[in-house]
Amino acid sequence: MRFAILSLLPLLGPSMAVLQPNYTSSAGVSIYNPADFFTPTGPWSLMSHAGDTLYIAGMRGILPNNTLAPVGLPRVRQAYQNMAELAEMVEVELYDCLRLVVYTTNMEEYRDLCNQVQIELWGDDVNSYPPRTIVEVVRLNEDDIVEVEGTFYMPRKRGRREG
Ligand SMILES: *[C@@H]1O[C@H](CO)[C@@H](O)[C@H](O)[C@H]1NC(C)=O
Ligand SMILES: *[C@@H]1O[C@H](CO)[C@@H](O)[C@H](O)[C@H]1NC(C)=O
Repeated sequence: MRFAILSLLPLLGPSMAVLQPNYTSSAGVSIYNPADFFTPTGPWSLMSHAGDTLYIAGMRGILPNNTLAPVGLPRVRQAYQNMAELAEMVEVELYDCLRLVVYTTNMEEYRDLCNQVQIELWGDDVNSYPPRTIVEVVRLNEDDIVEVEGTFYMPRKRGRREG
């Protein structure tokens, strides 16, 4: 029965199907690297899921064609949007974020842009923002300005097809 339902899913179109993991370890850690996304810049993956927790890390302002968005607000916005889009692909919403960690090479210049993008994404209800750590670092890959990671609550719900 399960197989019969699964085999019909391609007919419903990609938007109807929840993203499938690229790899699942024997202990049940699933790894995701969706095709219609930027390619990880090295031996790392975009997203993992274990138990009820989803992890997204290494999000910088990389566009789907693997180029960087313009420095400044577009770059920072793209970094956060990459995280938001990955979460959406597994049907996890931003309000289910447990914790954010943000790395920036210039606190004075870019922290405000991070704040602005977080208001764009989470709205202006001061009670719904996730906890956040933001730190200034000496350097990021490709001399980037901001890198974001997020941990999300992703309960295994009934009907979610996942390994
Ligand atoms: C990961 O899986 C997706 C399908 O969910 C596939 O399109 C993509 O090519 C895979 N990525 C890699 C790196 O194999
Ligand atoms: C990548 O995509 C961006 C945004 O769509 C576009 O402005 C840019 O020209 C593209 N770069 C390349 C090399 O295709």
